[in-house]
Amino acid sequence: MKTRITELFGIRHPIVQGGMHFVGLADLAAAVSNAGGLGVITALTQRTPELLEKEIARCRDMTDQPFGVNLTFLPTFSAPPYAEYIQAIVEGGVRIVETAGRSPEEYMPAMKAAGIKVIHKCTSVRHALKAERIGCDAVSVDGFECGGHPGEDDVPNMILLPRAADELSIPFVASGGMADARSLVAALALGADGINMGTRFVATKEAPVHQNVKRAIVAATELDTRLVMRPLRNTERVLKNAGVQKILDIERDKGEQIQISDILEQVAGVYPKVMVDGEMDAGAWSCGMVAGLIDDIPSVRELIDRIMADASHLIGQRLCRILGSEQMPEDSVAP
Ligand SMILES: Cc1cc2nc3c(=O)[nH]c(=O)nc-3n(C[C@H](O)[C@H](O)[C@H](O)COP(=O)(O)O)c2cc1C
Repeated sequence: MKTRITELFGIRHPIVQGGMHFVGLADLAAAVSNAGGLGVITALTQRTPELLEKEIARCRDMTDQPFGVNLTFLPTFSAPPYAEYIQAIVEGGVRIVETAGRSPEEYMPAMKAAGIKVIHKCTSVRHALKAERIGCDAVSVDGFECGGHPGEDDVPNMILLPRAADELSIPFVASGGMADARSLVAALALGADGINMGTRFVATKEAPVHQNVKRAIVAATELDTRLVMRPLRNTERVLKNAGVQKILDIERDKGEQIQISDILEQVAGVYPKVMVDGEMDAGAWSCGMVAGLIDDIPSVRELIDRIMADASHLIGQRLCRILGSEQMPEDSVAP
């Protein structure tokens, strides 16, 4: 499959692994890139720019394929040293950055001067258009169903993706709810140039997280996520658990008066407890509704190969058959 995304990033398959706190380490990024997708290291999981540089070097030892780094601009008072993280990315020789959170406008000159291709993750058409205007090379469009921060507009991908296709000139990947060949083919049909997956990649052999996390995703259905921090306008879709229920109770009790300090225990420092120690009730960790479509823990290569093979079959067989057999490419006609 050749799309504007495979061309832009020099990858074999139009599949991107979204940045994920405490999941997007070199091990997973290298596995995705080796399997023909775009693996992404999550910068802020590395406590300092120096540690990020080491993680980039570790990834390069494991793959000679292109990979990227995710830089998430957090809504925090004590901002991480973003300029220094960008310096570490440049010095590490990485030429693809996935930005997320706030607009990356302030850092575009530095990234562009270093020849970096920027894909910005956004949850609305207006933010995607802004990303295009400030010089991003691509966007990742995250629908309401996504794991993590879906924004505050609540527009699901069935609407958001064709709206993005109608408005954007730059390539974009569909993000949120993507799990298999059906997702990929549907995303392409809706106008995207590929897919970005988060939750699906957590439940793979190479994801460097506790087995409890993978099991929890496999066990979860599409009904098992919750939205937290909505009253703070920092909505996050997470897997339900005892800690998350506590947040929801506090949100209900405090109403409009709620402050981040009221739920700090359940939202801050939770990732190492969940991802490293496997404490599944510790609090809020991102997980998409797509958990309902995930029922195994394959290797990354098995997953990506399966998606690509099934997508060929889906397009060449099922869709062509619907149009009539004369439309079927000869090499994919079933006996
Ligand atoms: C465990 C987990 C952690 C995540 N952490 C981040 C993050 O640090 N930065 C970011 O930009 N996106 C983060 N995301 C969002 C993903 O990159 C991706 O956009 C999202 O998972 C797509 O939706 P899906 O889970 O339905 O595939 C995270 C997602 C998950 C599941």
